[in-house]
Amino acid sequence: MANLAVAIAGISLRNPVLPAAGPPGWSGEAMRACAAGGAGALVSKTVSVRPAVVPTPNMAAIPGGLLNTELWSELPVEQFIEREYPLAKETGLPLIISIGYTAEEIAALAPRVRPFADALELSTHYLGDDPTPMVEAIRAAKAAVDVPVFVKLSPFRDMQTAARAAAGAGADGIVAINSFGPCLGVDVETGRLLMGSPEGYGWLSGPALKPLALRCVFDIARAVDLPIIGVGGISKGTDAVEFLMVGASAVGICTAAILQGPQVFGRVARQIDRWLDEHGYASVEEVRGLAIRRWREWAFRTAHVPPLLDQDACTGCGLCQAGCVYGAICVVEQKAQLISEKCYGCGLCVTRCPARALSIAA
Ligand SMILES: Cc1cc2nc3c(=O)[nH]c(=O)nc-3n(C[C@H](O)[C@H](O)[C@H](O)COP(=O)(O)O)c2cc1C
Repeated sequence: MANLAVAIAGISLRNPVLPAAGPPGWSGEAMRACAAGGAGALVSKTVSVRPAVVPTPNMAAIPGGLLNTELWSELPVEQFIEREYPLAKETGLPLIISIGYTAEEIAALAPRVRPFADALELSTHYLGDDPTPMVEAIRAAKAAVDVPVFVKLSPFRDMQTAARAAAGAGADGIVAINSFGPCLGVDVETGRLLMGSPEGYGWLSGPALKPLALRCVFDIARAVDLPIIGVGGISKGTDAVEFLMVGASAVGICTAAILQGPQVFGRVARQIDRWLDEHGYASVEEVRGLAIRRWREWAFRTAHVPPLLDQDACTGCGLCQAGCVYGAICVVEQKAQLISEKCYGCGLCVTRCPARALSIAA
């Protein structure tokens, strides 16, 4: 068994798989279910100085994930302090408390939630692209409490500038990313927009978000030397490993926990464990940043190198041929055949082959 334990900003986690702020941490009971489901720590739903008034409908399943227009918690912070946080603390797991949004609000909230917090997570979701309000919120939190302060970034256009600003303001870690939007969905049977928000807008989460989230974590990890909790589209162990490889120390899951239930945390942790074992790694730490270290070896090749084809592994399914616009691969008698002189080396067939019979030459 690989070593799944990690430490982020001095907090020890039994495994690196956490809930991301949202419905999985909406109440004490929900957080206890995350603990029973195998999470490495707990993260509570964002609270602010006043309860949110949330439009309905506010969640819709779409291909690739969810649209949501939930805001912060509809429960008052007093209820979290009196009931929900103490229930979560009974699990014995570290509790990361998410609060929002402005410096003034953070200064009021941080000391009140501090008795239950192993760390704070500051949501920047409604603060816009300018890093200044985020910087002020981090400073307010750091001045108010002595626990680590993580800042959660929405996909800013320039994540490195945001991350450097966060580090400069004293953040102890970065959570990336929040859901992406605004987006839109339509019910084709009725012509109604899927979300009940004033503009009908919703924010995207789930598997469709993963490439954006990975890029953001990759950018942040190369800009600052802070622990990163990678969030966005994770539902299985290999998703999590991808985030570790681009520099995350731990991962957060929201959409998959909503759609599959809180057992997803333990399941993903076990899948990471198995993947590490099968690939000869002894710990999470060994794969962290691997894709950053290897990226230069692979970057910007221009030669049209055809893929390598292992005909023994080929099952003759034909997916490679169906997607080759150059006509460079065809299936003859249940085996793929490459026509190298036609190949542009685009790599699509390699990523489509379910049998991994195709690979990119080193
Ligand atoms: C219904 C819903 C509610 C959410 N509420 C919050 C929240 O209160 N605070 C926050 O920081 N992020 C919130 N998020 C964003 C998630 O924490 C996460 O960053 C995002 O959904 C991407 O991760 P995922 O693909 O695993 O869902 C919410 C997401 C969803 C889908």
